[in-house]
Amino acid sequence: MARTPDTDTTTGEPRSGLGRLRRRLSPPGIPQDDRSRARLVLDTLVLHLHPARIPAPTLRWTYTWGLGGLAALLLLLLVATGVFLQANYTPAAPDAYLDVLDLRSDVWFGDLIRNIHHWSANLLIVVAVLHLLRVFLTGAYRPPREVNWIFGVLMLLLVLAANFTGYLLPWDQLAFWAITVGTSLLTYIPLVGDRLASLLLGGPEVSGATLLKFYSLHISVIPLSLFALMSLHFWRVRKDGGLTLPRRVDEEPEEKPERVTTIPHLVRREAVWALSWLAAIVVFAAFVAAPLEGIADPAVSPNPAKAPWYFMGVQELLLHFHPFVAAVVVPGIVIGGLLLLPFLDVDSASVGVWFRSRRGRSLAAMAAGLSLALTPAWVLADELVLDWAGLLAGWPAVVANGFVPLTVAVVVLAALDRWVAWSLEGTVEERVLFVVSFLFVALVVLTVIGIFFRGPGMELTWPWAIPAAH
Ligand code: HEM
Repeated sequence: MARTPDTDTTTGEPRSGLGRLRRRLSPPGIPQDDRSRARLVLDTLVLHLHPARIPAPTLRWTYTWGLGGLAALLLLLLVATGVFLQANYTPAAPDAYLDVLDLRSDVWFGDLIRNIHHWSANLLIVVAVLHLLRVFLTGAYRPPREVNWIFGVLMLLLVLAANFTGYLLPWDQLAFWAITVGTSLLTYIPLVGDRLASLLLGGPEVSGATLLKFYSLHISVIPLSLFALMSLHFWRVRKDGGLTLPRRVDEEPEEKPERVTTIPHLVRREAVWALSWLAAIVVFAAFVAAPLEGIADPAVSPNPAKAPWYFMGVQELLLHFHPFVAAVVVPGIVIGGLLLLPFLDVDSASVGVWFRSRRGRSLAAMAAGLSLALTPAWVLADELVLDWAGLLAGWPAVVANGFVPLTVAVVVLAALDRWVAWSLEGTVEERVLFVVSFLFVALVVLTVIGIFFRGPGMELTWPWAIPAAH
């Protein structure tokens, strides 16, 4: 047999994974049939995305929970269903609404495909956030993976933008008013806010021009950027040496972990995971319809008028802080903090260990518990007792009602952090874990309060007392 530099000189086997694969699928002298050719094409595709071999520990289910792969699957499903939807859609008012009605009743499987698109888009937000959380809790964002973490944060922002622009497209009351509330947040950005809002809206308020703008962003710029970033994200996973290796708290890092072939070990798991989720989403979408209210009516505002659910945390903050602080300063600190995280916490000793250490686990649970108690307590106190504007009469509103309460909240968190550092002897990485866990639970609590506990006039109320939307 002819030997090439790609061939092992002692065994005659090709050196590269793909070479070995080709050889296995088409041994010399045996003609390839169509099946093996199709298999070769599929395998080649898989090996463009994955290395030929991976460390066996990264297959551990309870490490990644398959969340990154699920996010990728949802993105593909959204494109597939989106292409179908846009073939039956006119981005103009009122045609958009009539098209959606048509889709629900007259187009073959139109309703099902719309439901799949809607639920997958919402699920993608949840899955991307959970994936971020798993990467954070296993310390997998630390060098050399900091660039990939930043790509991830940008992807999450794009996923939110994709959902937000898509929200308007059915042109019903829910869409119209949620986007009106959502875009009004932009106007609180100093100097450029009003201009930015009217640039995005294509005028002073939500109109047919906004629908056209949102549609073009939704079907071109945002998905194209998302897919470009996703390619970079996957490429970086390989460039950074594959996934971080999972470890239990008391396990030493393995120098040379066992390696297994991607085909079939990883691919088989991915296929089962993807098919199970596809089946679950289709069944769910067959039974649970995506919401559609009456046609958008700028003259009739629902009460309460709420932003889309993923911005309800910010809308809840608006009820407690001056709008500049709630809609600009706090989101700015959160996004900036996320981008800076891998540079604040660089100790790589615990990478791959859930919650860093045994003490880390207790600290994360403690932070979650404290946040579960303190966040609703703050909301109630601010609603019933605190009156910053009255207390600091004569001060500019943005200070009295914005920076002062924000400083109080930061001081409370800083005091808790000092307590973790001094009394519990927490390390930097455990303190970062404590603070981020506290803030994450606070965001979830605020979102839940905004969605379920705010009724007419955005007053606090019980979920069952909120009138159902029609
Ligand atoms: C649409 C969004 C996203 C997709 C499709 C996606 C996809 C993936 C996939 C398939 C993996 C490898 C398997 C796994 O860890 O589950 C991965 C790893 C990773 N992702 Fe994402 N991701 C997304 C969003 C994010 C976000 C929001 C972040 C964080 C801000 C992030 C940061 C990372 C990092 C640092 C890794 C490497 C983890 C390690 O080595 O253990 N990704 N991503």
